[in-house]
Amino acid sequence: MIFAANLKCNHTRASFALYAKALNEALKYTKNEDEIIVFPPSIAFLGEKLDFIQGTQNFYPCVNGAFTGELGKMHLDEFGINCVLIGHSERRALGEDHELLKAKFEFAKEHDFKIIFCVGEELECKKQGKTKEFLNKQLENLDLNYQNLIIAYEPIYSIGTGLSAEIKDIESVLTFLSSKTKAKLLYGGSVNEDNIKAILDIEHCGGVLVGSAALDVRKFINLIKG
Ligand code: 13P
Repeated sequence: MIFAANLKCNHTRASFALYAKALNEALKYTKNEDEIIVFPPSIAFLGEKLDFIQGTQNFYPCVNGAFTGELGKMHLDEFGINCVLIGHSERRALGEDHELLKAKFEFAKEHDFKIIFCVGEELECKKQGKTKEFLNKQLENLDLNYQNLIIAYEPIYSIGTGLSAEIKDIESVLTFLSSKTKAKLLYGGSVNEDNIKAILDIEHCGGVLVGSAALDVRKFINLIKG
């Protein structure tokens, strides 16, 4: 299973160093087949060898250049980072449109990065029965056969609300996605210690992308240990 933690705009350089130390220690005793990925804020990237995959929440599709405030591949390389989150609804809400997400996807693919591509609909869209149509649009013109692709289904109404999507709805979307791609599929949105087991038991679910419940490293470790 994949256990990914998106720390969003939380943790400092100092606190993430402690987080990573505790996680490294704990991972010595977990199942080898699990894949653990953490996306810290970029200011907190660590340069040392880690027992988990360190990913970036954001990057700009360039190696370097005149892109004020952005992170290029050159900066990721310095920390050995080759795992990227693309399409998170919180970045889409800040204005990342399909064109930019596609450029990020293609750049990441060109450099063999592991991509976690996020998709997910608003509650209104779900109520109108338009989820599949909407997800199809979010995945349009992306190479769903890319071998280093993971897709995370994160319905917007479940992110940060404490209310995960219903199991039957997650199951229906993951089944739909699995008909389009062989990529591993994750679920994200208010995953916590009470619901993780039922979520991981869903057919086609290859893991979870956790926000709030992973901010405390002890809680994240407990989710991984199950
Ligand atoms: P929460 O787990 O806080 O709902 O966040 C999920 C998320 O957005 C992970 O990318």
